[in-house]
Amino acid sequence: MTDYLNYEFQDTAAFVGTFDEAPLWSASFGLLLLKHLELKPNQTVLDIGSGAGFPLMELAGRLGNSCKLYGVDPWKNANERAKQKIKNYGLSNVEIIESSAEKLPFDNSSIDLIVSNLGINNFEKPEVVFQECHRVLKKEGRLVLTTNLNGHWIEFYKIFESTLKQLGEKEILNKLIAEQEHRGSVESISKMFTNAGFEVNRHFEESFKMNFLDGSAFLNHPFVKLGWLSSWRNLIPVDLRKEVFGNLEKNLNSFAVEANGLNLSIPMAFIEGVKL
Ligand SMILES: C[S@@+](CC[C@H](N)C(=O)[O-])C[C@H]1O[C@@H](n2cnc3c(N)ncnc32)[C@H](O)[C@@H]1O
Repeated sequence: MTDYLNYEFQDTAAFVGTFDEAPLWSASFGLLLLKHLELKPNQTVLDIGSGAGFPLMELAGRLGNSCKLYGVDPWKNANERAKQKIKNYGLSNVEIIESSAEKLPFDNSSIDLIVSNLGINNFEKPEVVFQECHRVLKKEGRLVLTTNLNGHWIEFYKIFESTLKQLGEKEILNKLIAEQEHRGSVESISKMFTNAGFEVNRHFEESFKMNFLDGSAFLNHPFVKLGWLSSWRNLIPVDLRKEVFGNLEKNLNSFAVEANGLNLSIPMAFIEGVKL
């Protein structure tokens, strides 16, 4: 048990080159984006936080050659993989730009559409990126993002909270609650749009489920380790980690026996703003 506590992310080209199952998480959000996104010809499009190229490549394929797309991401190894996809898929309408979206290398009012799948609102300085998107978009240009919402994996977080209560770890419990509250709602994210000069004209909410055999499988899952483990680990002083995670894992496993699996909910939103 708790071997996952020693996990360290290896950001190498070789690892990112095998990054194929991990985007199953992104896929649900990307499908929501593609379901509601209005496609128009002759557009200049940015994907902010384009990572290894999803949903950028799919969008490039769906929009075709009258549109020009750019993926913007500071992550070198993911950009290399995205560039390999452009080459291997034979796409001529996409380019990757290695940059933070805090400072976009585009002129004022030059872009028609910006999309971001699991991006902007979770970046380090979202308000700066929203402003920068507003600057580069043409008047009536659109900024569309998809994101997970407050209430994400609620079943897991309830058990994490009750484990901390059982152990009398009130301070860690408060930090865990604060971490969850930090995740946006449609209202709080819409406020980021309006603060930057956008009008939110459409939003859609959906949710999906991720089922795991039990807590041990969940905590050892490669993408859970990659995406979340360090943030949970950092809430807990090093000398308490084995005890807290050992108890958490036991409680998750007991829950999974009763509930026939650890079936976790993920609420998500598509939010579209228009530059006024
Ligand atoms: C959760 S991943 C989403 C990747 C991809 N869009 C997907 O759906 O799988 C967030 C991405 O945003 C990128 N990112 C983080 N900060 C950024 C910034 N300031 N500007 C642009 N991209 C950023 C990360 O490098 C990462 O590739």
